[in-house]
Amino acid sequence: MRKLIGPKKIKTAVFISGKGSNLKNLIQFSKLKNYPFSVDLIISNTNQAKGLKYSKQYKIKKKIIKYDKKIKSDQKILYFLKQKKIKLICLAGFMKILSNNFIKKFQGKIINIHPSLLPKYKGLNTHFRAIKNREKFSGCTVHYVTPKLDSGKIILQKKVKISSKDNHSSLAKKILKKEHLIYPAAIKKILS
Ligand code: GAR
Repeated sequence: MRKLIGPKKIKTAVFISGKGSNLKNLIQFSKLKNYPFSVDLIISNTNQAKGLKYSKQYKIKKKIIKYDKKIKSDQKILYFLKQKKIKLICLAGFMKILSNNFIKKFQGKIINIHPSLLPKYKGLNTHFRAIKNREKFSGCTVHYVTPKLDSGKIILQKKVKISSKDNHSSLAKKILKKEHLIYPAAIKKILS
């Protein structure tokens, strides 16, 4: 990853599908002087994503790309990324799988946050599976995106204790708090 030279911030696109709490958190951190990135584009695969409201609130351009026809969607996304001079893509609750072709084009410049201690619990329903398997800990991971799902090099990870009282949603909440700590820290780590 290119190192940050001077006060210039690395232009970032955040891809979402839902609530967008990670998006909001990244936008807020990006405004701090010592965080070397700015959020310049929001991409969602659905216009139902609640997080799209942050586009208006923070005056950041948004694009809805359904990502059903992958080749066409790739072309559209690449066009907008180029237009905005985006150098880093942060997936934040983006629930579509990017094409291999797209990932190769942006190799080493796409990162993702995943709600488990990878390599454990790749894919969906991570909290449910961790509780079902009586794990003592779960957590979250920021990693590079490669064509193999949730398998790229780990950048940062944070552990959370699972208590006997936890259910899927209480665990999700606990982990989300940690996500909000490690995602901006991971970006800072790879850019500094
Ligand atoms: C987060 O917990 C994120 O780790 C997870 O979706 C949630 C999005 O929350 N991502 C995945 O499950 C990706 N496989 P947010 O919309 O409030 O940021």
